[in-house]
Amino acid sequence: MHLSIVATGVLQTDRHKPEKSFAALSQEAMLDLFRINTIGPALIAKHSVALMPRDERSVFAALSARVGSITDNRLGGWHSYRASKAALNMIIANLGIELQRTRPQAIAVGLHPGTVDTTLSRPFQKNVPLAKLQSPAQSAAHLVAVMDGLTRADSGHVIAWDGERIPG
Ligand SMILES: NC(=O)c1ccc[n+]([C@@H]2O[C@H](COP(=O)([O-])OP(=O)(O)OC[C@H]3O[C@@H](n4cnc5c(N)ncnc54)[C@H](OP(=O)(O)O)[C@@H]3O)[C@@H](O)[C@H]2O)c1
Repeated sequence: MHLSIVATGVLQTDRHKPEKSFAALSQEAMLDLFRINTIGPALIAKHSVALMPRDERSVFAALSARVGSITDNRLGGWHSYRASKAALNMIIANLGIELQRTRPQAIAVGLHPGTVDTTLSRPFQKNVPLAKLQSPAQSAAHLVAVMDGLTRADSGHVIAWDGERIPG
């Protein structure tokens, strides 16, 4: 396997909205989001690595989100989503370190797709300037270009649709 992309993720579920305060935290919501946003991609990585060639370039990419950056967090809120993406970013960092030893030509990254007009973002688009909103096709084209240009130095990091490396 030369390219494995995980494009799943949730911001809210039928039972829970993104939390605006700690009063809204619940075990159920946190477990739902960590299962889908963190544990799912980690287990897909586990099985993808076993299929990666040892002597050729290969890429594992999982869609993450800028809001998973701890140092970039100025607004707070969306506790379960942010925390589950931050944990995903740590999984990717760890995977990058392990791949250096076991498959030196393999690259593991998180990808921030930008703000994209999908079911996930639609309820939260009212303050997003139209110029910042990408169609899924636009975002996907940017992400393919980013993945084509990845080097070993990018492994373990989160890269945005425009090529910017997002701080951890
Ligand atoms: N849209 C944005 O602005 C934005 C911004 C930053 C990051 N992201 C990230 O980009 C990724 C894709 O989001 P999107 O905007 O494309 O949202 P989306 O249109 O809602 O797509 C999410 C996908 O995840 C799948 N999924 C959710 N829960 C699942 C589960 N338990 N098991 C299997 N599949 C499941 C959904 O499958 P079903 O359709 O079958 O439910 C759907 O295909 C997510 O990781 C999200 O956090 C999006």
